[in-house]
Amino acid sequence: MTEEQKPDLPEGKRIRKIRSYVKREGRMTKGQARAMEVYWPTMGLEHDMGRLDLTQVFGREAPVVLEIGFGMGKSLVEMAAAEPEKDFIGIEVHGPGVGACLMYAEELGVKNLRVFEHDAVEILADCIPDASLDRVQLYFPDPWHKKRHHKRRIVQPEFIESVRNKLKMGGVFHMATDWEHYAEHMLEEMSEAPGFTNTAEKDFVPRPDFRPLTKFEARGQRLGHGVWDLIFARNK
Ligand SMILES: C[S@@+](CC[C@H](N)C(=O)[O-])C[C@H]1O[C@@H](n2cnc3c(N)ncnc32)[C@H](O)[C@@H]1O
Repeated sequence: MTEEQKPDLPEGKRIRKIRSYVKREGRMTKGQARAMEVYWPTMGLEHDMGRLDLTQVFGREAPVVLEIGFGMGKSLVEMAAAEPEKDFIGIEVHGPGVGACLMYAEELGVKNLRVFEHDAVEILADCIPDASLDRVQLYFPDPWHKKRHHKRRIVQPEFIESVRNKLKMGGVFHMATDWEHYAEHMLEEMSEAPGFTNTAEKDFVPRPDFRPLTKFEARGQRLGHGVWDLIFARNK
């Protein structure tokens, strides 16, 4: 029985029926597996840790940036290296991506990064304290092109509300996509969602310098896609 077909569960058992990803197969390289073995104990966070004390996790009080679906983690690690005065949390479901991220973090000597290998929707709900984040990043989320798959898109009212709860007042939700229809969908959902102000003069912001080129963005560029960035600030 698939997750989508599961019947009603006993009260208290929360289950999210439609997920924004399909778990890809794919083995870790030796280097990724080694990075997991060596660095997971210090950099890995687990869903069953429950609600985190972020000051304890990082051993200091600093602004916290959270990235959802970091892929192979290259741009996330580069951002963490570029802003050592901030702390970063990455969430990704693809195991080899998490391994690659830890490997690259080691290479750049990044210390201000922790990662989850889990569904970001559940991590937001169960592990991230309310009003604790300065920025949430969602770069090139799976666009789910086909209409019948649109329900899988992660940017939905319930998800937006969860992001709002986790942001500090004035904190920002930064999204980027190379799929114009998804960009329009994001803009529409965010404009209708309560508690956010669009920081753009009109609709989209120019590509910010602080966002390194991600793997999917580079792929989009090769295919001749445009890129749309949205930055919305929490206002209540
Ligand atoms: C199209 S890729 C983009 C990766 C990266 N941000 C980039 O720009 O190169 C989308 C990523 O989001 C991850 N993902 C999708 N839904 C997720 C979820 N609910 N929680 C965590 N990761 C998720 C996928 O596994 C995939 O690696």
